[in-house]
Amino acid sequence: MKFLKNYEIFVFILTTCFIFISCNTAKKKHNFSNSIITPGAVWRDNNGNQIQAHGGGVIKLDDTYYWFGEYRAKDDNPLYRYVGCYSSKDLIHWTFRKKIQFSAPDGFNPKTWVLERPKVFYNAKTRNYVMYFHLDDNHYRKAEVGVAVSDSVDGTYQFVRHFRPLGKESRDIGQFIDDDGSAYLIFESRPSGGFFIAKLSDDYLNVDKQVSFIKEPLEGGALVHYKGLYYVMGSHLSGWRANPNVYATSKSIEGPWSTFKNIAPPDSNTYGAQSTMLLKIVGSKKTSVIFMADIWKPKNLWDSRYLWMPLQIGDGNMWLPEPKPWTLNVQTGEYTFLDQGQAKN
Ligand code: DGJ
Repeated sequence: MKFLKNYEIFVFILTTCFIFISCNTAKKKHNFSNSIITPGAVWRDNNGNQIQAHGGGVIKLDDTYYWFGEYRAKDDNPLYRYVGCYSSKDLIHWTFRKKIQFSAPDGFNPKTWVLERPKVFYNAKTRNYVMYFHLDDNHYRKAEVGVAVSDSVDGTYQFVRHFRPLGKESRDIGQFIDDDGSAYLIFESRPSGGFFIAKLSDDYLNVDKQVSFIKEPLEGGALVHYKGLYYVMGSHLSGWRANPNVYATSKSIEGPWSTFKNIAPPDSNTYGAQSTMLLKIVGSKKTSVIFMADIWKPKNLWDSRYLWMPLQIGDGNMWLPEPKPWTLNVQTGEYTFLDQGQAKN
């Protein structure tokens, strides 16, 4: 009997130690894996929900980043379209801020209208947040942009107008804010056989003037100004299917642009992703450029994934390294690639 009691105490102590050690290991694992970006993995917000910000864009206001994109949950009401808004201080941990709801504008079928690739600009003069999105019908024939305005970043965005920028058909849109604060809309225009870079009007509610037309049939257009050169990039036109994304450079945003080159081995089809934005991080030690892209799952758009990776960029070259987990310090601008082993431990 006495022996049994000692034995029980021994088992109890052993079990307690085991639970303590496993909990600590699990905690470490959790914390560590929380500080990394794993391209293609499920990316969760502060509530544990899969981030819904597809075809999106990121803006920085003071020390906070805001990520807007298509919110495509499984249980969405089919009469509305939604834009997800998330915030972060480090570009890794994202707090859900709002699911912004839009009804079909007049003249659009409420059940089948399309809202894609939303991008938000902050206008310091009007203190308004101005959202642009690709607005279309289910056959992609209207080819317009929609504009919505809010007086706070995650507030109530009021739909204000829709139009064809510069009178041109416009499908995929991209956003670019230059170092001097000027705001540009990038839009693909099929009949023109290329894509436009256009400056926004003072109040951002309109497209003021064409700055560049790049006669290359590309969508998912993105632009970055890095060390005195503009790098423009986009994907070829293959619907939701990934293809080799390409880039060109110019000393001026007005061009002329160099010939286009692949950003990754062409047979990788950009590792299954399509460009949506080039995000520049100016840190105290380094300026890094992040390739933000979507890995689309057209039959389950809600489960589409994100491929975010730092680019090798400079002297007119741009290259997307093979995706792997990485971590970022937004203060210094430095990033570190982690091997799979590190990312798991
Ligand atoms: C490719 C675009 O880049 C996507 O945003 C989406 O519009 C699909 N085409 C639709 O086929």
